[in-house]
Amino acid sequence: RPRILSGMQPTQDSLHLGNYVGAMTQWVALQDDYDAFYMLADLHALTVNPDPAALRARTRRTAAQYLAGGLDPNRATLFAQSHVPQHAELSWVLACQTGYGEAGRMTQFKDKSAKRGSEGTTVGLFTYPVLMAADILLYDAALVPVGEDQRQHLELTRNIAERVNSRFGADTFVVPEPHIVKSIAKIYDLQNPTAKMSKSVSASKGTIWLLDDPKKAAKAIRSAVTDAGNEIAYDPAEKPGISNLLSIYSSLTNRPIADIVAEYEGKQYGALKVALADIVVDFLIPFQARAREYLEDPAELDRILANGAARARRIAQVTLERVYDRVGLLAPV
Ligand code: TYM
Repeated sequence: RPRILSGMQPTQDSLHLGNYVGAMTQWVALQDDYDAFYMLADLHALTVNPDPAALRARTRRTAAQYLAGGLDPNRATLFAQSHVPQHAELSWVLACQTGYGEAGRMTQFKDKSAKRGSEGTTVGLFTYPVLMAADILLYDAALVPVGEDQRQHLELTRNIAERVNSRFGADTFVVPEPHIVKSIAKIYDLQNPTAKMSKSVSASKGTIWLLDDPKKAAKAIRSAVTDAGNEIAYDPAEKPGISNLLSIYSSLTNRPIADIVAEYEGKQYGALKVALADIVVDFLIPFQARAREYLEDPAELDRILANGAARARRIAQVTLERVYDRVGLLAPV
């Protein structure tokens, strides 16, 4: 089976609905046909300078949400990035193959560093996408399922892989393809349907947190900002609010958008919102119950991650040794 890899940063107590709809539903769908590696990007989370106890708790909470969302440790390899030292090791080699200007063009880096200023911006934030390239290239991943916001990082990964291949041998790395499903790749903030739903605007009423009170989620859906007019149609350019609700609806019910639009023909926005609020609540209640079960048994969670890391390390070490050899590092005897 061809390999895939993806990850999420444990930077909050809860993932949000954009992470679930945009990424996790794809991860679940792909775990049977691919040899899938899903990691907790805890090293990446260090770029927000988290409180140590909070980072540890959030890493377990994110793992519990992976499992609650349907990732199966018997079918996919689930692990914490920091448990596999080869990620940081390969990252250094790749950093030496990445242009300073090339890394500086990453829009996420430009946005975040502009907010933090030059003294508040760490070198880690700058090299973040290089570590991400290492995550992917270590496993010879052919496909990387992500949301739209990761497209540019994937493009950088491909460029680094191609550069290394042309310098050190064409079979050094598998050049990965992004797996981005258009209708769900960018779920928008419910209060501001032209901005993506995001972890960092945590104060926004427009974000639905998977572990938060389902009643709040229902309220957020019912009070979502919608568009002028009253016809329910999927038109992301002209009707971003309603289109966003239709994307969420379609993803959570596994129904094509066209079906839903047909069902609501002639009905008001309110009818769609009320129905979607119920759908979201019906998704969240069992999701939270499953997540709670895992959180009540941290030893079991740690055991799952230990198993995943053991397998990940074996594969990652093979790639790392290949790369060290190609670039001319002397093998230890
Ligand atoms: P992160 O933690 O920000 O997001 C996790 C995943 O959720 C997707 N996503 C969204 N999809 C649709 N709509 C949204 N509003 C939305 N918000 C987030 C993201 O695209 C992502 O797929 N750098 C990565 C983590 C990472 C990674 C990797 C991913 C580290 N190493 C290697 C892939 C491969 C990140 O910060 O994702």
